[in-house]
Amino acid sequence: MTVDSVRGWVAAARRVVVLTGAGISTESGIPDFRGPDGVWTRDPEAEKLSDIRHYLGDPAVRRRAWQKRLTAPAWQARPNAGHAALVELERRGALHALITQNIDGLHQKAGSSPDKVIEVHGTMHEVVCRGCARRGPMLPVLERVRAGEEDPACAHCGGILKSATILFGEGLEPGVMERALRAAEAADLLLAVGSSLQVYPVAGAVPAAKRAGARLVIVNAEPTPFDDLANAVLRGSIGEILPRLVA
Ligand code: APR
Repeated sequence: MTVDSVRGWVAAARRVVVLTGAGISTESGIPDFRGPDGVWTRDPEAEKLSDIRHYLGDPAVRRRAWQKRLTAPAWQARPNAGHAALVELERRGALHALITQNIDGLHQKAGSSPDKVIEVHGTMHEVVCRGCARRGPMLPVLERVRAGEEDPACAHCGGILKSATILFGEGLEPGVMERALRAAEAADLLLAVGSSLQVYPVAGAVPAAKRAGARLVIVNAEPTPFDDLANAVLRGSIGEILPRLVA
């Protein structure tokens, strides 16, 4: 299948559901996890920083995690042509939902409507307290870290603060996965973009959409476990392919 024939499917679709992963943000300067230059590819140890048990049990892990949050490339990142193509798809009225595994907020920064975006792995732009579950903006807490607090505690209850992202070993926010599955099952076209489709339960949205009758198109630089299930696999750069799909 070529980009041109898939473009016809996108043009004909009325309820496109897009599932994005870290691959749509690499061209904005944010490394992915499992690609050739991925965070886990380069430093398998780094995954420990993203495991809730280590984060809660080891203050040294929290101190390192806060330092990494300070210097996260996402703070300087700007949306790229891939994000913009999805904004165009929504403007045209064809986007039913945008399920993203990304925590960088670039879809919203590009102009995708927040009520269309389902952030299944949370967001780095907020903090949540593991003690009293209060949520708040991330930036003021980063200011506390910059001012020297290496492991800032919740101002209300003294509990452990973490970013509002889902770490390994944590469940997703209640209802988020159900919303994502309902959207996937209502799709007439599921576009999986920039994800290795290895992390569950989110990857389950792909076969769910297919089972419910959607066409499946995968846009990714490397193979995924669902390539054989796809009606089309477009191998290449998202920033180059997505704009052509919605042209
Ligand atoms: N164009 C096309 N494909 C790309 C590009 C690009 N510019 N950049 C990266 N990719 C592809 C990579 O080849 C890789 O297959 O995007 C995919 C990204 O896969 P992962 O790094 O596994 O990211 P993702 O699928 O989003 O990971 C899911 O795992 O670590 C957890 O919670 C984290 O949300 C994340 C989840």
